[in-house]
Amino acid sequence: MAYYRCAMMEVETKFRVLSENFSLEDDRNPIEAIKTRMKSPESIRNKLESRDLPLTIESIEKNLNDVAGVRVICGFPGDIYRLAEAFLSQDDVELIERKDYIENPKRNGYRSLHLIVTVPIYLHDEKRRMRVEVQFRTIAMDWWASLEHQIRYKKEVTVTKDEAKELRDCAEQAALLDYRMEQLYQSIQGSDA
Ligand code: GTP
Ligand code: MG
Repeated sequence: MAYYRCAMMEVETKFRVLSENFSLEDDRNPIEAIKTRMKSPESIRNKLESRDLPLTIESIEKNLNDVAGVRVICGFPGDIYRLAEAFLSQDDVELIERKDYIENPKRNGYRSLHLIVTVPIYLHDEKRRMRVEVQFRTIAMDWWASLEHQIRYKKEVTVTKDEAKELRDCAEQAALLDYRMEQLYQSIQGSDA
């Protein structure tokens, strides 16, 4: 767990550095907030057991991508891709998997860009690569996902067809607002230049 925590700190620092850098260049910070979380030992056990996988260190390292998680909350959808690109172009960041739920939202309406990467951590006698899950969301995507999580995600509640449609509809409205605000920002920026 300590190794994963170190990798999470490495990734968080990378985004703090990018945040400083972009703020200086643009007079605007593309990052609203950075949140980190470690998967609890209990959820690690549950996830492995539910997939009939052994409960060992090797099995965790091989099968779980999200022991260490970093969530980057951005202003506009465009910020997400700029940040992801800047992050992935760093030569010690290795991409394992990319899931773009902004281009292809989940059926329930969920939107976010997910990257599974490995980053090196330097211990006193060795260098180890550890996996970290990075989720990029706009404030609006995060608002929807946080509330949807409270309402339903992974809980044993049954949602009717109409309720599911309503949830999806809220996600679509939020996405629409994201793009309206981004266009407004670009238009105002353009007329200022
Ligand atoms: P998990 O087993 O949940 O980790 O899913 P996965 O391995 O299929 O990966 P995926 O990239 O789809 O989801 C990883 C994480 O994204 C989840 O642990 C949540 O934090 C978030 N997530 C994915 N889908 C949803 C969703 O429908 N609603 C919310 N609120 N969060 C989601
Ligand atoms: Mg997960």
